[in-house]
Amino acid sequence: MHRRLLASAVPLALCVVLAACDESLSELAGPTPNLQPTLSSITRDIFNSTDAAGRIQCTQCHTDAGGRNPSGGLNLRLEVAHRSLVGVASRGKPGAIHVVPGDPENSYLIHKIEGRPGIVGVRMPRGNGPFLTQGQVLVIKRWIELGARND
Ligand code: HEC
Repeated sequence: MHRRLLASAVPLALCVVLAACDESLSELAGPTPNLQPTLSSITRDIFNSTDAAGRIQCTQCHTDAGGRNPSGGLNLRLEVAHRSLVGVASRGKPGAIHVVPGDPENSYLIHKIEGRPGIVGVRMPRGNGPFLTQGQVLVIKRWIELGARND
């Protein structure tokens, strides 16, 4: 299973570069089978939902619902996710921007969900996983590459 996922991730990475293979994205969406590279889908299927692999939903912590303070100052509730992320500076890491349209490599959101070495704090979702799958991360990267629209 793992090997199969890796094997299909390589052509997918190419698709992301070529920006032309939306159908194969859904094959990799795994525990979130309806995931699409749009903010409404990402917000619904990842930020605001658990998934079939048992991953915790981001808005368990990143929301102002019920009058709480969003963890890390980041509110991922559907109505505000775009203005919380796109072009917005990280509170934890000076100089980092959550989402840079067209540039997933320099988008701190990606660094946090991949658990890259330079992050401040811990890999998201906080806790010991399950973390997002490689396919789920690729779909989010694709949304960023397509311009990180409020779509
Ligand atoms: C159990 C609570 C919890 C969950 C669930 C959670 N987070 Fe977080 N998140 C935090 C806390 C606390 C911080 C601040 C400390 C840190 O950065 O480690 C944070 C920080 C962040 C930051 C950096 C904010 C900044 O301004 O630097 C990002 C990005 C982030 N989370 C994204 C996510 C995403 C995406 C998910 C879901 C896949 C998620 N988080 C799930 C608690 C959580």
